Amino acid sequence: MSDTTKEPLSGHKKLERNITLLAVATFVTVAIGGLVQITPLFYLENTIEKVEGVRPYTPLEQAGRDIYIREGCYVCHSQMIRPFRDEVERYGHYSLAAESMYDHPFQWGSKRTGPDLARVGGRYSDEWHVQHLTDPQSVVPESVMPQYGFLKDTELHIGDPKATLTALRRVGVPYSDEDLDKAYADMLAQADPDADAGDLATRYPKAQIRDFDGDPDRLTEMDALIAYLQMLGTLVDFDSAAAMEELAQEKGR
Ligand code: HEC
Repeated sequence: MSDTTKEPLSGHKKLERNITLLAVATFVTVAIGGLVQITPLFYLENTIEKVEGVRPYTPLEQAGRDIYIREGCYVCHSQMIRPFRDEVERYGHYSLAAESMYDHPFQWGSKRTGPDLARVGGRYSDEWHVQHLTDPQSVVPESVMPQYGFLKDTELHIGDPKATLTALRRVGVPYSDEDLDKAYADMLAQADPDADAGDLATRYPKAQIRDFDGDPDRLTEMDALIAYLQMLGTLVDFDSAAAMEELAQEKGR
């Protein structure tokens, strides 16, 4: 039969010898592979595994965070403990994606002139922070950290915390209507041990309510910044069985 003269895979030979055809076919193949991988991501509500304990920042913590960014603390400090032995032994449990899911913008990074601060909360007393921020060299003589004593003398510009929280809600931070309505009161109450903080600690579990800068009569930028530093990395309870279980799941995937 005359048909048998045709070599097997002759179609492929044609493809390999025609550069344009080969390019088009390669593109189509890669595009299909890409679509298969990428399309499902558009249908997932969230690619970050939720972790028990992670909550949005209180208005005061958020204000402290804004000062942290304004002062450029991130230029020397990262907030991301990588899953390496030396980092975990120095800083504590490696950072989980969920721990920065409400950060806008996030504070990861690899530039560390100073130590990572992802879990600095609770490591030092408020007095230590006031002293260190005012005059880092009085605590660590060889420190190259600048002095931020003016924060203690600067009244916190309260502005419109409800607007801040509303903006954050628009980009996905789950503040409730109540959180928005009480934002102003929450801001004042968290740094004032004599104020009635109401249900602040219920809406924001583990919120630390006290005077942070050693001067209960004034609400300063130092109060806000220390409130923020003292909560960093304290939300997830890595010792509790539930958290460990969730972590095991996260590792398993
Ligand atoms: C020029 C770089 C630089 C900048 C900017 C800087 N720091 Fe530091 N920071 C350091 C260095 C270096 C250390 C380690 C020595 C020391 O403790 O002072 C440090 C230490 C710290 C520590 C102690 C951490 C620990 O685990 O011991 C805290 C907290 C801290 N900085 C907070 C801040 C905050 C908040 C800001 C912004 C207001 C800031 N730093 C800005 C360099 C910097």
